[in-house]
Amino acid sequence: MSAVMAKMMSISPGMPSPSPSLTPPSPSSISAPVRTIPGGYGWPVLGPISDRLDYFWFQGPETFFRKRIEKHKSTVFRTNLPPTFPFFYGVNPNVVALLDCKSFAHMFNMEIVEKKNVLVGDFMPSVSYTGDLRVCAYLDTSESLHSKVKNFALDILKRSSTIWVPTLSSTLDTMWSSIESSLAKSGSASYLVPIQQFIFSFFTRTLIGADTAASPEIASSGYAMLDIWLALQLLPTVKIGILQPLEELFLHSYAYPFFLVSGGYNKLVKFIEEHGKEVIQRGETEFGLTKHETIHNLLFILGFNAYGGFSIFLPTLLSQLGTDTTGIQQKLREEVRAKSGSTLSFDSVKEMELVKSFVYETLRLNPPVPLQYARARKDFVLSSHDSAYEIKKGELLCGYQTLVMRDSKVFDDPEKFIFDRFTKEKGSELLSYLYWSNGPQTGSPSESNKQCAAKDYVTLTACLFVAHLYRRYDSITCNSSGAITAVEKAK
Ligand code: HEM
Repeated sequence: MSAVMAKMMSISPGMPSPSPSLTPPSPSSISAPVRTIPGGYGWPVLGPISDRLDYFWFQGPETFFRKRIEKHKSTVFRTNLPPTFPFFYGVNPNVVALLDCKSFAHMFNMEIVEKKNVLVGDFMPSVSYTGDLRVCAYLDTSESLHSKVKNFALDILKRSSTIWVPTLSSTLDTMWSSIESSLAKSGSASYLVPIQQFIFSFFTRTLIGADTAASPEIASSGYAMLDIWLALQLLPTVKIGILQPLEELFLHSYAYPFFLVSGGYNKLVKFIEEHGKEVIQRGETEFGLTKHETIHNLLFILGFNAYGGFSIFLPTLLSQLGTDTTGIQQKLREEVRAKSGSTLSFDSVKEMELVKSFVYETLRLNPPVPLQYARARKDFVLSSHDSAYEIKKGELLCGYQTLVMRDSKVFDDPEKFIFDRFTKEKGSELLSYLYWSNGPQTGSPSESNKQCAAKDYVTLTACLFVAHLYRRYDSITCNSSGAITAVEKAK
């Protein structure tokens, strides 16, 4: 594996030379000069506050990282990342930022990094949001509970694959019918809420084995209960873009207590307990989890991983299609019609090279989970394309995918949306550098790594979403404020 990494190290500017695996090299194989990590943390209190204001207010995340790459002339540097002062006492904002494909890939090597409690950085939302438990995403691979829950998640996906496509088609038909009736009434239809209702209903059925129709309250408001539960956990770490300094004073200065959303969360727990009996039982008997661990992990996988991830990803995908003026829709439609046969299936979308590439390119330029963290398990030497750096045990590494996925040493014309970028031989080699799932698209999620359990299901589901759309419509048109303004039915 280090030979492959050595190939990666040989990438020269402007000459992408993708390789199929990304395990970082052992220190002895590193040839680049070791340099001191540039940047710093500034004065206590003042340094973190100044970086926080830049990150959330004066610059925003993308400019924050871009400016520091320019200043330090390096894609690896030290900086602070919020949350910080005044009411985040135990939280250490110091990180080493990794902003190119090669340095970022070190975070996939579980021999040199650990992922305990670092899902969103050194800050961790209170465990009261997750049944007083540390759920799967906060567990390191060295913890036996991680293996149990990860294998449980992989098993749920495998078992539900038989109902996946028909469930997707029927929930999507419901969504499009509701969008069409709003369009007919008012000439435009906002798509965020219909998409979220679809995602909630689809994943409740496929992951929990429950029909939301069993509870009118969950059917109508379950998705909104998840929205607010997610928002309160993540607010201290996310730029919202409302009027400053209000955002800094009220949204980024302290963590919100769980009791504000406990009502909705407890209703969702009760719903899963009552209507997901079969899945819960499997968690207990086949994976050795307690009932409490099973339910709260299921709810986290449903609400945070699946619902949270797709609520960011699908609106972006739809907007990318509906606002395109370069003819992408026509090309995708032709491919879908030529390859989908009489009914859609996983196998039929696997044949759709352009649709798959479009999905990958959307994930490359808009990674739904832009920040990833990992802590050094031991001292090691980390390499970027042109330098090597000494990392000390315990240091927190932070990769910002939005820039990593625009690494010009890997992707030609990296800022441009090239919808067929991932086709042909060169395109399929580039999949080793597509990291949205916290691992390369060529990797396999398992109990020994922290790659998204649904790495393949996410991309295939997005392909099915596109294919379903072009079997139903010839084209759709979206505006820039998240609404569909026209659909042309399939002729
Ligand atoms: C667009 C949708 C999704 C995106 C963008 C996404 C992204 C991610 C990312 C980035 C991670 C790693 C987080 C980290 O450790 O830094 C992750 C982990 C995980 N994801 Fe997904 N995910 C999505 C959908 C799903 C779905 C549908 C499932 C359903 C099973 C799922 C299950 C998981 C699990 C169980 C983990 C934890 C893995 C571990 O701890 O080893 N994800 N996901």
